Amino acid sequence: MSESGITRRRVVTGTAVGAVGVPLLVACGSGDGGSGADSSGDTEPAGSGPLVAVSEVPVGGGVVVADRNLVATQPTEGTFKVFSAICPHRSCPVTKVAGGSIDCPCHGSRFSIEDGSVMQGPATSPLEEVSFEVTDGEIVPS
Ligand code: FES
Repeated sequence: MSESGITRRRVVTGTAVGAVGVPLLVACGSGDGGSGADSSGDTEPAGSGPLVAVSEVPVGGGVVVADRNLVATQPTEGTFKVFSAICPHRSCPVTKVAGGSIDCPCHGSRFSIEDGSVMQGPATSPLEEVSFEVTDGEIVPS
C-alpha cells in the first residue's frame, strides 16, 4: 500500500515539472521582446549644453537633433523655437522638418514650425515647446 503511494507521487511530480517548464520558455521569449522595446523607447528630452548653432537652422525650416530628442526651428529670420521631438500621438520621434512643418513618420502627423501646433493629425495636441537661450551663436535649452 505505502509503496504504491510513493510511486504515484513520483509520477505526479515528474508531470508537474514538465508542465511548468513549457510555459516558462514561452514567457521568457516574450519577456525579452518587451524589455528591448522599453529600452529603445527611452524618449526623455535630455542633455544640457548647446543644441545646435543658429547658423545651422534654416530660415523657414529647422533641424531635428535626434540624440537630444529636440527640434530647433527658425520660422522667420532671427526667430528661433525649440520643441520636443517626441510626437504627442504615440511618442514616435519626429524625423523631418520640411515645407514649414515638423513631420512624424509613424502616422503622418505634422506640426507647425512656428508654435508646434497640429497641422495634420492623427495627433491632437501640439509638440511641447522647450525654453532656451542663444549663447555665443548656439541654441542652449534651459
Ligand atoms: S506617433 Fe506621430 S503620428 Fe502617430
